[in-house]
Amino acid sequence: MQRTLILLKPDCVQRRLMGQIITRFEDKGLNFVAMKLMQITPELAKQHYAEHVAKPWYPTLEGFVTAGPIVAAVLEGLEAIRVVREMLGATNGLQAAAGTIRGDFSSSRQMNLVHGSDGEEAAAREIALYFKPEEIVASTPTIATWLRAADEA
Ligand code: CDP
Ligand code: MG
Repeated sequence: MQRTLILLKPDCVQRRLMGQIITRFEDKGLNFVAMKLMQITPELAKQHYAEHVAKPWYPTLEGFVTAGPIVAAVLEGLEAIRVVREMLGATNGLQAAAGTIRGDFSSSRQMNLVHGSDGEEAAAREIALYFKPEEIVASTPTIATWLRAADEA
């Protein structure tokens, strides 16, 4: 089992797309184990996007992600990090494949609706940035036996 952090970015919340996006992850069989509505501060934005802080486009990214409420959530599932990244599609909505979240809902390089951790190290770091250990509510969905066979990890 892997855990990954997703953020429904301010464009997703403002465009009233939260429900549709959450539904996609539920439909896939991923399990929500933590979720909260919050606003990202400039300090948190710099920590979250540490790898991008020095880039020329960082100031506009910070302005965007701090501009309104977001939803932070932790998803759990087999290969969840890769599965979620593939569901998101390419960074730029104009290039993301049809059928992916960004491909279906975004026409922007910046306003691409959802963040997903890009690897195990990032997932661990990002989950700790947004959630205290006691805010993660682990549980086995009662339909787990109908999501995959017993011998699939
Ligand atoms: O989110 P992802 O890992 O696909 O992309 P990234 O290259 O790590 O960039 C992080 C986020 O910065 C993107 O999701 C965009 O919202 C934003 N971005 C931007 O505003 N301008 C760019 N030229 C590239 C990315
Ligand atoms: Mg990235």
